[in-house]
Parts: sequence; structure tokens; C-alpha cells
Amino acid sequence: MKRVAVLTSGGDAPGMNAAIRSCIRCGISKGWEMYGVRNGYKGLIASTIIQMGTRDVGGILQKGGTVLGSARCPEFQTVEGRELAIRNLHQTGIDALIVIGGNGSQTGNYELHKMGFPVVGIASTIDNDLYGSEMTIGVDTALNIALEALDRLKVTASSHQRAFLLEVMGRNCGYLALMSGIAGGAEAIILPEVETDIEELAEELHQAYEHGKAHAIVVVAEGAKYNAAALTQYFKDNRERLGFSVRSTILGHVQRGGEPSAFDRILGSRFGYGAIQAIERGEFGVLVGLKNNSVVATPLETVVANKKELNPELITLAKILD
Ligand code: F6P
Repeated sequence: MKRVAVLTSGGDAPGMNAAIRSCIRCGISKGWEMYGVRNGYKGLIASTIIQMGTRDVGGILQKGGTVLGSARCPEFQTVEGRELAIRNLHQTGIDALIVIGGNGSQTGNYELHKMGFPVVGIASTIDNDLYGSEMTIGVDTALNIALEALDRLKVTASSHQRAFLLEVMGRNCGYLALMSGIAGGAEAIILPEVETDIEELAEELHQAYEHGKAHAIVVVAEGAKYNAAALTQYFKDNRERLGFSVRSTILGHVQRGGEPSAFDRILGSRFGYGAIQAIERGEFGVLVGLKNNSVVATPLETVVANKKELNPELITLAKILD
């Protein structure tokens, strides 16, 4: 009999609940005792660790967010904080911990692994910037929310012959911007990964205006050097060069709050099962993610040491199509 605890950490992502449900139910199917930790690493430090049964995760599959709660926890970044967390895990008799989260969360998870506690990670973040998984939980839902916003903005932009800047999330990563820009036919996509020539962008938009385009949509990643605020200011100062009048929309946390798509529910369910299988094999210090549509385990050491790059072919494609 094993005792396994699950927590969600960092930014919530639609599909986390599917992963929690899957971990709890797959673990119980092995005859193990399963536990949930409240509010991420904060809950390890406060020792809010509760046993969960099959029915405790009923009716959560279709819900966004995380029923366990999540947090960003500076105390866990200290050795003392992590030592306390491990003491609490031992006191509750927990044998292994599953951490559902993105880059920062898996870095913390790797620290626990190095301190000798058996851990497994599950790849979850709307940013899709986690090495070791082609897709992470929440990306598909967030992308579709961004796309819906883009489609809607195009309608009102066309009515007024305006340019719209749409800023989407992705701390240091342009994945959501790139993919929503391609899917929504944006006139330009501004990414942290690619140098932006602001003069060239203004000229492109001006040309579009001169050719009678009814709208111009520019998708901007929040982490880009020129974010929506910087670009809006520039375009306001150079209004006559552009032709279009400009409006901007920052989508922000709206992208995180949706009900999970079918893809994210299935991905979360598969990753939960993958984590339980890794624990059964005694394979610890790994991240469960997706590669070539298979669930695979990658050492956390490799995950935290590498940066996931955007597919350069998609960047080229976006440039050709805009
Ligand atoms: O990591 C996910 C993410 O949504 C990023 O895209 C964004 O920069 C950040 O979290 C926002 O963090 P918070 O919810 O703490 O404001």
C-alpha cells in the first residue's frame, strides 16, 4: 500500500482538474491511499494534506481552475521552507508526491527530488514553455479563447477600419501569440523570440491601409519587448503614418479561466495515469509529458536545464501568411 499526494502549483490551467481526478482514481485503482494538498507548495508548508476518495473528485472534469487551489509560494524557494515541506510529508506518511504545474513548479519539484523525496511532475501551463512536453495542460483551451477574441475583434475592427492590438499571455514565450495569430489570420505577430522592427511594422500596416484593408490585427505576446502598451503609444504618436486608428485589448487572465476543451480533459487524464504508472515503476524525479502523441517521462534535471523553443517553421509560415 502506497500513500501518494497530489498538488497543483503556479498559474492554474484548464484541465488541471482532469489530471487531479485521474491521479486520485488511478491511484485508488492500484489499492493506494490518495491525498490532495491545498494551495500548492503553500499547503505542504502549512501541512494541509487531506485524504481523497473517488467521489471527492466527482463532477470536476468539466471545471476550469483547480479544486485543490494553487499558489505562488516564495517560502518554498528557501531550503528551510522545503525542509519543512518534507517533514510534513513524512509526518503524514506520504511516500510520493505528484506536482501538476509549469516551469517554476517543476523547478521546485526538482529541488525536492534532489533532497531525496520521491516526486513526479505533470506538465501543466497555458504558456506551453515546458521542455519535455510538446503540449502542456491548458494550452489548447487558452489558445481557443485567444482565437475567439481575435475573431470578435476582427468584426468590430472591420466596421471601423481600425487596427487592433491583441495582447495574449505567455510570460516569456510566444507560443499562444504565434498559434492564435496563425489560426486567426493576424496581419502581424509580435513575439519575445523574434526581434521586432517597429518602423517596418508601421510600414506594413500602412501598406495594408493603402490597399484598402478594412482591418489589421496584431497579436502581441505579453513578454515581447514591444507589448500592447508600448505599441499603442508608438502608433498614437505616429498616427498619420499608419492610416488606421488603433485600439488595444489585453486578454490577460480571461485565457486561464475557461472550461477545459476535450483535448485538455483527455491530456490531463492521460498525464494523471502516466504519473501513477511512473510511481508504480519506481521512476521518480521525472516529468510526465507528451511526445509524438505518447505519454513519456523525462528527467526533471533535463526539463529544468533546457528551454523549449518555438518551432521555426511556424514562425516562417506566419510571416508568409500575414
Ligand atoms: O504561467 C502562466 C501565466 O498565465 C503567464 O502566461 C502569465 O505571465 C502569468 O502566469 C501570470 O501570473 P499570475 O497569475 O500570477 O498573475
